[in-house]
Amino acid sequence: MATLLHIDSSPMGAASVSRHLSNTFVENWKKAHPGGTVVTRDLTKSELVSINAEWVAAAYTPAEQRTAEQKAVLAKSDELLAELDAADELAIGVSMHNFNIPSVLKLWIDQIVRVGRTFAYVDGAPKALLAGKKATFLVATGGAYGPGTGLESLNFIEPYLKTLFGFIGIGDVTFHTAGGAAALNYGADRAAFLQPHDEAVAALAAA
Ligand SMILES: Cc1cc2nc3c(=O)[nH]c(=O)nc-3n(C[C@H](O)[C@H](O)[C@H](O)COP(=O)(O)O)c2cc1C
Repeated sequence: MATLLHIDSSPMGAASVSRHLSNTFVENWKKAHPGGTVVTRDLTKSELVSINAEWVAAAYTPAEQRTAEQKAVLAKSDELLAELDAADELAIGVSMHNFNIPSVLKLWIDQIVRVGRTFAYVDGAPKALLAGKKATFLVATGGAYGPGTGLESLNFIEPYLKTLFGFIGIGDVTFHTAGGAAALNYGADRAAFLQPHDEAVAALAAA
């Protein structure tokens, strides 16, 4: 049976557009995968910390040589990697913050991009260690950065996440972006704004 890892990164709770869309994805994914398992990881409640010198040293120490302290340093990374390993698919809600991803999502990325677990160096070149997974990103941006807006180059989310997930072996990535969400702060109708996005995301989840 398939397993979906549902990750959210918006701090905005019920007002969040990306959370709304990731929930739409999950609800429709469940219908398309009866008996499937959904694992939820809310990064705003996960209290992830920045990696530091001890973390890097522990990650680069062969597993069988790690001290008890080094194992403890990597415990959260191990937990997040176990969730990632178990997932066939990922649905990730992403807010645009300062033209990029929220800091909590970057903290998660720093914990799961780990030498010997998700990538390795083979003959001096990086090699992805994950395979067979696909990821769908449900993105909300205040402005509009789509093709033809003239602002495409300011959206660092999509090229960054494509590169990063490809680096660890998740090359099958799909983005759905709800651009212009700032209009909701100026009186735009939320249901009308969300409706076409819900339809598109429901179709992605059923694919
Ligand atoms: C701290 C912060 C930074 C933001 N930075 C940008 C930005 O650089 N570009 C943009 O278009 N919108 C920006 N926004 C607007 C958000 O992208 C927009 O509100 C979007 O709906 C956020 O996703 P969410 O509703 O899931 O939280 C920012 C919002 C916040 C709270």
